[in-house]
Amino acid sequence: MGPPVETIVVAESQIPDEPTRDIILELKRRGIPQRYVPIQRLSIKIDSDGVYVETRRGPLRPDVVVIRGIGFLLDANTMIRRVTTLEILEGEGAVAINPVRSLLASRDKLKSLYILSRSKVPVPPTIVTEDLYYAYNAVKSLETVVIKPIQGSRGFGAMLFSDPDLAFQVMRTLLLTHNPLYVQKYVQKPNRDIRAIVVDGRVIGCMYRISNIWKTNIAQGARAEPCKPTPDLEDIAIRATRALGLVYSGVDIGETRDGYVVFEVNASPDWRGFKSSTGVNPAQYIVDYISNIKR
Ligand SMILES: Nc1ncnc2c1ncn2[C@@H]1O[C@H](COP(=O)(O)OP(=O)(O)O)[C@@H](O)[C@H]1O
Ligand SMILES: [Mg+2]
Repeated sequence: MGPPVETIVVAESQIPDEPTRDIILELKRRGIPQRYVPIQRLSIKIDSDGVYVETRRGPLRPDVVVIRGIGFLLDANTMIRRVTTLEILEGEGAVAINPVRSLLASRDKLKSLYILSRSKVPVPPTIVTEDLYYAYNAVKSLETVVIKPIQGSRGFGAMLFSDPDLAFQVMRTLLLTHNPLYVQKYVQKPNRDIRAIVVDGRVIGCMYRISNIWKTNIAQGARAEPCKPTPDLEDIAIRATRALGLVYSGVDIGETRDGYVVFEVNASPDWRGFKSSTGVNPAQYIVDYISNIKR
C-alpha cells in the first residue's frame, strides 16, 4: 500500500496563499504527486460513460482533495455549484480534507454553534434570527453583544454594541441587505484569546492572540505568542474539532471566569502567526495524515 497517487489542493485564488503553499511544499518534499487547482477551474462532465471531474487539461482522479477554500463573496448559485463539485469528487472516491460536510458546517456559524452546543462544548449565549424585534429584545437582555456575519472570518464585519438602539439601526440595515442576524453575548475575557491547532485528534500547538481591541484576530492586528496547552484546553479543542468531523482545525477559545468558551472552529485556518510564534508547521502534520490514508 503506497502513498496516495494523486492529491489535489483546491482554493479560490489563482495563486495559493501561504498555508496552501506550505501544504503543497510538504507534499512535494514527501514525493506525493500534487496539483493546485483553483476551484473555478474544476468542471464536471456527465455523459453516457460516467462522471468526470475535469480541468481543461482533462480528467482528475485524485485520491485526496485538500480543500483550503471555496470562496468568499459567493452568491447562492456559485456556492451550490462549488459545493456539489466537491461532493462529487468525494462521492467518486477522493478523501476530502476537510470533509465537505464538516467544512460547510464550520463555515456556517449557526450550524457549527448548534453542533458544538449539542456536543456539550461551551459556547457564548447566542440568538440567530431574521426577526428584528426578536433581535432587539435579545440585545437588551444580553447587554453587550457581538453581531457577526453568519459566514465570516478574520474578524471582518464583527461589531460590538452596548446601545440597543444603535444595534437596532444596524440590524435593520443588515436585514434589508439580506443578512440574517447572529447576535452573541460579549463574554469578558483578558486582552487575548487562544488559537489551538488540532490535527488528527491532537493539539499540535496553541498560541495567544494578544490585542488591545476586543477582536483578537491576527488580521485585526493581534500579536501571536506561544502558549502551553493545558489538559482542559486540549480537551475542549479536540472535542470541538471531533464534533464537527474535521481532520484539522483552528479553534478559537476564550478564557472566561467560568472557564473556556469556543468562539468558533475554523476548517481552513490561516497559520502564519501560529507558525512563526510556535515554530510548528501544521502542513507537516496534515501531510502525515495524508500519507497514512489507506487506498
Ligand atoms: N462573544 C464574544 N465575546 C468576546 N469576544 C469575542 C466574542 N466573539 C468573538 N470575539 C472575539 O472576536 C474574535 C473573532 O470572532 P470569531 O467568532 O472567531 O469570528 P471570525 O470568524 O471573524 O474570526 C475572536 O477571536 C474573539 O477574540
Ligand atoms: Mg475566529
